[in-house]
Amino acid sequence: MSAQVEQQLQAYYHFHSAIYDATRWSFLFGRSRILRDLKVVCPAPRRILEVGCGTGRNVSHLCELYPAATVTGIDLSEDMLRVARKKLAPYGQRVSWVRRPYAAGVGGPKPFDLILFSYSLSMFNPGWQEAISAALTDLTDEGCVAVVDFHSSRLAWFRNWMGVNHVRMEGHLLPFLQQNCLPRLERVSAAYGGVWQYFQFVGGRRPTGAASQAAATAGRGKVN
Ligand SMILES: C[S@@+](CC[C@H](N)C(=O)[O-])C[C@H]1O[C@@H](n2cnc3c(N)ncnc32)[C@H](O)[C@@H]1O
Repeated sequence: MSAQVEQQLQAYYHFHSAIYDATRWSFLFGRSRILRDLKVVCPAPRRILEVGCGTGRNVSHLCELYPAATVTGIDLSEDMLRVARKKLAPYGQRVSWVRRPYAAGVGGPKPFDLILFSYSLSMFNPGWQEAISAALTDLTDEGCVAVVDFHSSRLAWFRNWMGVNHVRMEGHLLPFLQQNCLPRLERVSAAYGGVWQYFQFVGGRRPTGAASQAAATAGRGKVN
């Protein structure tokens, strides 16, 4: 991500952090559902990362859903993180925050069992492929990467309007995830009678070599 794009997003969220929680419920659909699904598909993660955690809405749900887990939220916007830190203060040491763009991954000796991107990847322009690859590097062998995000819209004016809001909505994320992860859950849904579509995806690292055929067979039983 260039310094210019990072500054544009920081300026956007400098304003939007104040109204974010009051407005986003009306169009960021599927966030609660993917969390419920995760409890089935990824039942007991110990270390969780949310990339582009914003005001911490999902971090707080993840803390409730997985009481034994620690959760890290990474975001480029200090304004969004300020709201998140205040909201999640009761969770103390279970929660930690990192302020920077997610590009090369978080790294460190202990990778994550669950990495969530909730309406953040569609704003990684450029850099969404690198972010998915980084997540696969930050993931344990048995871990899950989970994504809920905008998918596409047949309405050009709507796609353009979302572009003004830094969102790319061209059906580009889901095929890349399907190709690079072993899918465990996939769902595409319509919003507002088909004005746009959004998707949910949960996948794991693709095994290499002899294990891959067995894993592909096991993956056929995935939740849809
Ligand atoms: C639409 S908000 C989603 C917030 C939260 N995940 C949710 O579901 O409510 C997108 C967030 O992604 C962050 N973001 C965008 N690009 C990013 C990047 N390259 N690295 C880290 N955070 C990023 C933004 O600052 C913003 O807080």
